[in-house]
Amino acid sequence: MSSVRKILITSALPYANGPIHLGHLVEYIQTDIWSRFQKQRGHNCIYVCADDAHGTPIMLRAQSEGITPEALIARISQEHQQDFAGFNIAFDQYHSTHSEENRFYASYIYNQLKANNHISRKTIKQAFDPEKQMFLPDRFIKGTCPKCGALDQYGDNCEVCGATYSPTELKDPKSVVSGATPIEKDSEHLFFELGHFEPMLKEWTQGGHLQTQIANKLSEWFESGLQKWDISRDAPYFGFEIPGEDQKFFYVWLDAPIGYLASFKAYCDKNNINFDDYWAKDSDAELYHFIGKDIVYFHALFFPAMLAGAGFRTPSAIFAHGFLTVDGAKMSKSRGTFIMASTYLKHLNPEYLRYYFATKLNSRIDDLDLNLDDFVQRVNSDLIGKVVNIASRCAGFVTKRFEGQLNQAWSSEAQNLFDSFSAKSEAIAQLYENREYSQAMRDIMALADKANEYIADTAPWVLAKQEGKEAELHESVSVGLNLFRLLMIYLAPVLPETSAKAREFFNETEWSWDSAKAPLRAHTIAPYQALLTRLDMTQVEKMLEDSKQTLQATATKPAPVAEPAAAPAQSAFDPIAPEISIEDFAKIDFRIAKILNAEAVPEANKLLKLTLDIGLGERQVFAGIKSAYEPEDLIGKLTVMVANLAPRKMRFGLSEGMVLAAGPGGKDLFILNPDEGAQPGMRVK
Ligand code: 2FM
Ligand code: ZN
Repeated sequence: MSSVRKILITSALPYANGPIHLGHLVEYIQTDIWSRFQKQRGHNCIYVCADDAHGTPIMLRAQSEGITPEALIARISQEHQQDFAGFNIAFDQYHSTHSEENRFYASYIYNQLKANNHISRKTIKQAFDPEKQMFLPDRFIKGTCPKCGALDQYGDNCEVCGATYSPTELKDPKSVVSGATPIEKDSEHLFFELGHFEPMLKEWTQGGHLQTQIANKLSEWFESGLQKWDISRDAPYFGFEIPGEDQKFFYVWLDAPIGYLASFKAYCDKNNINFDDYWAKDSDAELYHFIGKDIVYFHALFFPAMLAGAGFRTPSAIFAHGFLTVDGAKMSKSRGTFIMASTYLKHLNPEYLRYYFATKLNSRIDDLDLNLDDFVQRVNSDLIGKVVNIASRCAGFVTKRFEGQLNQAWSSEAQNLFDSFSAKSEAIAQLYENREYSQAMRDIMALADKANEYIADTAPWVLAKQEGKEAELHESVSVGLNLFRLLMIYLAPVLPETSAKAREFFNETEWSWDSAKAPLRAHTIAPYQALLTRLDMTQVEKMLEDSKQTLQATATKPAPVAEPAAAPAQSAFDPIAPEISIEDFAKIDFRIAKILNAEAVPEANKLLKLTLDIGLGERQVFAGIKSAYEPEDLIGKLTVMVANLAPRKMRFGLSEGMVLAAGPGGKDLFILNPDEGAQPGMRVK
């Protein structure tokens, strides 16, 4: 084998304010397979990760729970690590961006950039919450869209008409945190002069470090010019104070990727490794970052520029992947397809998902779909029907008839068959190396088909009943098991737990990639125990049901907020609206309405067009509940509507009322569902 490579790899750091779900796991499984593969090849591969622990959403969530941010991130870190361990994700180090190592590297990199004149200052106007005494990120302001008049829109864009604007243009703006009307306030911010790095970045991004689709996207970004990047935030903020400044903090995205260095440093300190061997400019180590396609800008522009500006090496490559859909749609809480890692683990074997994702993953950034019927079918037909089946058909004979010993001498046919399996080793390795896992799985399953043909042809169960066929029987089952052994060696990066059990069954202590070169002859194996069991659709259905219930139970809690891509869904942070009198309330005519039809409004992200029967005729209402419901799931349901709301002309037509829903927002918006006995048109008191 070629010489031992020094490889450092990372997965993106999950935010410390929400649970790990199957969407996250695409990346951790993809990276873990690669890490395990490299280790199995004998390379020195170190896989590090951490929780991304800073930022406004984490600070506010801790406040709403009445605990310190430190207590919140400690709890979430434990939950994350438990979920990852459950899926056999084997980090060499799991750290936190809220760590001394990260404070050190964030400050060091910043000081270097400053010393090299890459940091500038500018006073900017920003929305400020006078009650909470804090500056508000755009996504923490809501109000009426200045273009279409839609209520309850975020400070940066309208989900109804798609307009983008600045929070100052929003009508009737309110702070999501306190409900106060934000004021404008000046503040001096620090900026990283990304434009200084344009020549270096142009070369780097086109220098083979990125997938083609990503490199092309970046060329477009260069055309529109590189803007300087605002890296400071004012107090109160949960993060690191910027050295030499008063009450200014690093923006979470500044110290998040530096968390890769920090986590690795913690690993170095424990394992007596020289940090500079991996991060110095002249390092001969390989450095790869696995990420989702949504955070390419940070990893392919800001991060390499910061590293170069501070005198570190740049990544060897960034490996981006697409998003996960479930049954062809975005994960949905109402359908139970928003599946948390911990819910999955209560019902199903993690190796099934690892295998299924492997059958779908390649080196491109296309989205991948978890089709639940296909999932069940593939696991059963490939893993149980093709792979494990070989062992269960052969092992019993070896134990009962040959005292657990594999045979010694093989016929040339048997040897040739084994050699043809062994000869595939390098081609399969190349597929793993290039992250073409789906092709690797197809090739391995083609070998499994061949192994099953061999067993069907030699028919050990027939030989076992015939006199004088001992030697043939012994060869058939010994060769069968040796072929199975090779399949499990090739599948080990994907199925670490099953493959470890198989290795123990073969009484071996270690499997390297080269273990597939030679067969086991005259070797004693352990009694066979079932390695995997068939997957039944009812188990999947139970998991979906559990998912729905778990999410409903947590629906009253504030939804986790990501920064900066998404903002808090409407949540417990929402202020109480101005008081109304009982007379005002009595004016509202609540009626039971039957949803006759529901359809998406293609131009509006949030809206469904509902046709309602309110007993007294039909009404058309545009309701902002698309994030929570598929239109077809609503048809036939009863709900409660405000029937006497003045009709409002919207861009897509007239809205003649309001449907009532409750919940924190996003996928958790529950339409009020009256009892079966209710009739359209009944008044609700
Ligand atoms: O998008 C996210 O979930 C971020 N927490 C990823 C950070 S990756 C790295 F830069 F730290
Ligand atoms: Zn609008």
